[in-house]
Amino acid sequence: MCGIVGYIGCKPAKPILLDGLLKLEYRGYDSAGISTLEKDGISVIKNKGRVNSLNEIDEINRLEGHIGIAHTRWATHGKPSTKNSHPHLDNSKTFSVVHNGIIENYNDLKKFLISKGYTFLSETDTEVIPNLIHYYYNKLDCKKGEKFLKAVKKACDDLVGSYALEIISIDYPDRIIVTRKDSPLVIGTSTCENYISSDIPAILSYTKKFYLLNNNEYVEIFENKVNFYDKNLKNLKKETKSINWNATSADKDGFDDYMLKEIYEQPKSISETIGSRLKSSDSLVNFDDINFSKKYLSSLQKITIVACGTAMHAGLIGKTLIENLCNIPVEVDIASEFRYRNPIINDKTLAIFITQSGETADTIAALKLAKSKGSKTLAISNVVGSSITREADITIYTHAGPEIAVASTKAYTAQVTLISLLSIYFAEILDSANYELIKELKEDILNLPNKIKKVLDNTEIIKQLANTVYKEKDMFFLGRGLDYSVSLEGSLKLKEISYIHSEAYAAGELKHGSIALIENGITVIAIITNPLLVEKSISNIQEVITRGAKTMIITNQKLDKKNYDYILEIPDINPLLSPILSVIPLQLFAYYITKAKGLDVDKPRNLAKSVTVE
Ligand code: F6R
Repeated sequence: MCGIVGYIGCKPAKPILLDGLLKLEYRGYDSAGISTLEKDGISVIKNKGRVNSLNEIDEINRLEGHIGIAHTRWATHGKPSTKNSHPHLDNSKTFSVVHNGIIENYNDLKKFLISKGYTFLSETDTEVIPNLIHYYYNKLDCKKGEKFLKAVKKACDDLVGSYALEIISIDYPDRIIVTRKDSPLVIGTSTCENYISSDIPAILSYTKKFYLLNNNEYVEIFENKVNFYDKNLKNLKKETKSINWNATSADKDGFDDYMLKEIYEQPKSISETIGSRLKSSDSLVNFDDINFSKKYLSSLQKITIVACGTAMHAGLIGKTLIENLCNIPVEVDIASEFRYRNPIINDKTLAIFITQSGETADTIAALKLAKSKGSKTLAISNVVGSSITREADITIYTHAGPEIAVASTKAYTAQVTLISLLSIYFAEILDSANYELIKELKEDILNLPNKIKKVLDNTEIIKQLANTVYKEKDMFFLGRGLDYSVSLEGSLKLKEISYIHSEAYAAGELKHGSIALIENGITVIAIITNPLLVEKSISNIQEVITRGAKTMIITNQKLDKKNYDYILEIPDINPLLSPILSVIPLQLFAYYITKAKGLDVDKPRNLAKSVTVE
């Protein structure tokens, strides 16, 4: 939630800050602000609304400073408004602060500061931070060079919650101080300039060399150097990490929206996910970064997969794959439920956490819980160095490239591809699956990029249906087995970006109540890809047709076209891998409906890309 950018260097900060904020808008977009160090003091320009609303404020044109911090907000404490926007100043206007996260004890801190004579202008939790820094700054008796950093550290010692902070001070016009705890922050470095951002993609066009920060580390960033400190302010040495994403992977690259671009990138992102892990259908699946033994895998009583939203839907596919190929029972949990339900897990459980961003608060908390109960933890993430990768025992990366649109598309197919490879890898170690099946799955995985291209070349019918039904209020998605798991994802995609209410049902379950909702003309989208379940699914679809539903079938089976309003054929593939193909028309369906409704596809209301709060 909330995006943070910072710049210090030889160029004017404003254009770089605004550019970075625009690229971070997917993290939150209800208000924005920037603060630069100018000759006459700290300037703060902020406004309710999207980043571009800052350009409506004339004063922005006079900013020339070369040091600045900036913020795009997803409101938690205090409604979206100019006064609640960041940056926030302390009462004396000595410190300016932007913050991503939540300060849980801000009420107590506010009361304390009020008792010391401080006043507050906003309803935010953040405003206590600059004032607390000021409070300690005035009390500290130490050399001026150290005072700023020490005051920040003393203030942070009082904070309970999560934060990524950038702070500038009129008394220290040569530096920015940053720190983080449970909220993401990276530092990009280049000759004579340094950048700060919540996410790598926002500053990728300026540098590919990054420093990754751990919790409770403090950093003084100057134009020509970066000083790192641990939680006790002892000096730390850090190496830069080179990121091999290119800048166009964070651009729209000629597409109208990031979401469409990311949908069309799937042949490439899946190739990257497969990478050198699977070279041919005759070679073993190989993960450079992991090394499981037969003894350990045979000792497992179960695998538990934990994630949120779309990533959890990828976990559902993982369950079927692992259970089928490895014969190990798998549970799938929503992270926000798992962490509070006292799950029965121990050292005989392998706990897998799937998260595109690697920053989802509930998923990270669930991982910590699993670790505390003795389970080995494996993270599947898309973001190198993200928080979860620093907590997990083992991390494997999806390598899907930056995903900017709020609605996840290419990350989902990369997650499913990766977990398919992981299942085969486990099955090969355990010798638990039929050789012919494994070979067929490997051939299909290697052919995925071509098959996805075929799906993407055949989208006209999806657009047609979307343009016909975009004014509807409710829709249904049906499927059995893995087709049901894909239906859940199709339904989530539709509601999150088009705001059309939809439900996904296991096709056989509908008649146990919800079929009462089916009425004349309602749209039902069904997925049929498993030859063993075709007849059963057709019967269920017949039940809704009889009650007047308009039907769209996504299938790789030979069906009688005249029985349905729309049929979209997708390439044949082993049923265990069909979700990677069948989800694509559903992603496009949600996309085209949202475009037909004239809504912002990439930034749906109330949402933000990384959910770093509970
Ligand atoms: C939906 C979507 C969300 C995320 C969920 C988890 O399109 O993107 O449901 O999948 O918030 O996010 P990550 O994968 O970053 O943990």
